[in-house]
Amino acid sequence: MKTQEEYLQGLKKWLRDTEEVPLEEMSEFFAKRLGDYEEHMSVWEKSYRLIAEAVPDECRKILDLGCGTGLELDQIWKRNPETEVTGVDLCRDMLDKLLDKHPDKRFTPVCQDYFQYDFGREQWDAVISFESLHHFWPECKKELYRKIYGGVKAGGVFVLGDYIACCDEEEELLREACLERRKRFQIPEDRFVHFDIPLTMEHETALLQEAGFRIENIMDENAAIIVCRKADIVIL
Ligand SMILES: C[S@@+](CC[C@H](N)C(=O)[O-])C[C@H]1O[C@@H](n2cnc3c(N)ncnc32)[C@H](O)[C@@H]1O
Repeated sequence: MKTQEEYLQGLKKWLRDTEEVPLEEMSEFFAKRLGDYEEHMSVWEKSYRLIAEAVPDECRKILDLGCGTGLELDQIWKRNPETEVTGVDLCRDMLDKLLDKHPDKRFTPVCQDYFQYDFGREQWDAVISFESLHHFWPECKKELYRKIYGGVKAGGVFVLGDYIACCDEEEELLREACLERRKRFQIPEDRFVHFDIPLTMEHETALLQEAGFRIENIMDENAAIIVCRKADIVIL
């Protein structure tokens, strides 16, 4: 097990080694790597099981943000094959693979940017997202979490599994590198690129609480999983 200092040294070396590597557009990044994507993500096997366990059994209607090829859904459907899922993802090829794997499931693919998605009012028993939101700035997530809160039914949950920065230094290092690279590679402001800018647990949970959620449980091993609950009765 690495110490925090060793981890940060490794991260700084990786940032130096990749300095000249151009940033790739988000959906192209995943489409290009589709062949060995699931094998690459198998390091999170335990987290996929934990995220499925964190979704209450009574949830019938789930929205998955950045569902990819559906690795978390493989586990959710294993527990409850009848669960109805809408999966939003920018990458058509990832969604097609999910559809190939699960032709028999109640699944609605939406090939769209989840920041533009209409969550509706109190429609979802659970909203989930795994390893997707760490690519975005806190200002964008703040607005998204507010929309998720509005879309979840009273008493429902948002289960977020994601890469969490180990400390402020990691958060700042990656943000600075992202800004510097976007500028150097002349990436337009509205283009999504694949570069990790995770928040610390303190900053991530603060955003979720600001949106109105109560943090019910945090499983901080492998990928972190944060279970957030919307109150049964919302006082406006
Ligand atoms: C690392 S993959 C995770 C996929 C899946 N949740 C899993 O764990 O296997 C991140 C996914 O998020 C999707 N994604 C990234 N930004 C997105 C956005 N703004 N709107 C919709 N999907 C997005 C990518 O296309 C990709 O499929």
